[in-house]
Amino acid sequence: MLEYILTVFIVIMCGYIVVKNFVFKTESPQPPGPKGWPIVGVVFEVDISKLQLKLYEWAQMYGDVFQFNLLGQKFVCINSIDINRDLFLKEPNATITADRPLTFTGKYAYDDYADVGFSSPSVLWTKRRKLAFQLLHRYGKGLTCLESQILKNLQTFKDDIRSLSGKNIFPVDFVDDFIFSTVEVLIIGRSFGKEGPLRNLLIKQNDLLNEVANPGTDSIYAVFHFLRFLPLPGSLALRELKKSQSCLLDLLDTLSKEECKEKGIYHTMKEVMEEEDKSGKPWFTEVNLAALLLNLVTASNFLTTRGTLLSLVHILAKRPELQKTLQKEVDDVIGTDREPRLSDRENCPTLEAVILETLRYISHLPVFVFHSSSDSVTIGDYTVDRNTVIIPNGWTMHHSEKYWEDPFTFRHERFLDSEGQLLAATHPIRKRLVAFGLGKRSCIGEVFAKSRIFLFLSTLMQTITIVEPEGKPLPDLDPREMIPGLVLQAQPFKVRFLLRNNEG
Ligand code: HEM
Repeated sequence: MLEYILTVFIVIMCGYIVVKNFVFKTESPQPPGPKGWPIVGVVFEVDISKLQLKLYEWAQMYGDVFQFNLLGQKFVCINSIDINRDLFLKEPNATITADRPLTFTGKYAYDDYADVGFSSPSVLWTKRRKLAFQLLHRYGKGLTCLESQILKNLQTFKDDIRSLSGKNIFPVDFVDDFIFSTVEVLIIGRSFGKEGPLRNLLIKQNDLLNEVANPGTDSIYAVFHFLRFLPLPGSLALRELKKSQSCLLDLLDTLSKEECKEKGIYHTMKEVMEEEDKSGKPWFTEVNLAALLLNLVTASNFLTTRGTLLSLVHILAKRPELQKTLQKEVDDVIGTDREPRLSDRENCPTLEAVILETLRYISHLPVFVFHSSSDSVTIGDYTVDRNTVIIPNGWTMHHSEKYWEDPFTFRHERFLDSEGQLLAATHPIRKRLVAFGLGKRSCIGEVFAKSRIFLFLSTLMQTITIVEPEGKPLPDLDPREMIPGLVLQAQPFKVRFLLRNNEG
């Protein structure tokens, strides 16, 4: 019986793909690209979990815009910064390309696109995106409200470092603890620490979502939805994710009822659930709350920031000279008697340049989150059909020799002028960095993320020197070797933290 259903399904799928690609084939000039196999396209040519590396190779062969077919879906990849700006910032293209493709993750992990990141634009989506901004604004804009809490978390971090100074350690444990403490404060107003009830659930959600939403896994499941019923890794991860999501909601419900003056975005979202639209119905439901929470506490918030902080630690461990420069800047601007503040950012150009270069060099979200065209759209010299998946190829834009000298070398000076000042945000080189995307789907957490990274890095440079581990030397951090996923992650590594005042 199962064989019969599968055969019928495959025949229907093939019919659909043939009709879509050959009967309604468009006549306008099409971008070049790898031909691939009939129907299944390039499926045998790419290691889908490392899509960015193949796209980089193809960009060298086919140029600024190329297309390919994967399992019947047409993808157009944008490798040019100018075309990227034109597409996502100028109308009518900006509106047409603000759509998201149908994804397995959006459908099943986010309860039929009830979130912000995977949902297509609509009136309700606009309200949700605005709400997400307000939530981060209230609790995180410039992080002024969270600043003191973050600094408190960093104090614990410093105490931990003191007890481990000079020993080989996995910095990921420190970084995770720091980020999760902030995430807990953001959600519920307070952090419960490593052994607290929230921690394991948050860790689990992040790992599982990264597995489900990996662009490679998602592209296959998005075509063959039935795979979710089979005992495959992606299907099991989805099931576990749903379970842990429901545990998280139950726990937050309990915690939010405890007598406590601190509040987080969970409390605000509960209040928003009481609001009604013009027809008297609630516009933001329990399902939206769960989906938005998943947007704000997992991959987008945790994995991206973890990727940046860990890469910073790795890069600095290999560059004692750069650490000396950063430490001097921190000593001159902040000194040792007080904690770093967000207002110090404008006086720390080298720190800012190091953060920007890390975002470029690593490009943690290498192919962003895919976009889709809600109508036919002109991209460069080509016209692309409705429902084409558009890949803003951040990885290639950030590593192309056309835009960056020695793109696979970490060189923060690119973002500084001859006086050592940070290039203005309008400078052509700054405008080439698009780590947070552009336009209507750009990252809503940019200010939040950059502020938190600054506080972390400045505290680190004020307190310690990072050195290579004893024993096995630390290899250089090569972004091409990072662990694949929706967000690239560093391979596990050890370093030593030396307290600065112990150095003599
Ligand atoms: C270093 C840190 C971060 C990087 C590099 C980053 C990068 C990105 C990128 C490239 C996109 C996709 C843009 C596009 O589709 O064109 C995105 C979307 C998004 N990010 Fe971030 N992000 C970071 C941190 C955060 C944080 C801290 C939050 C929330 C607290 C966040 C929330 C989101 C959301 C909700 C979206 C989806 C927006 C939409 O579809 O309308 N991100 N981010």
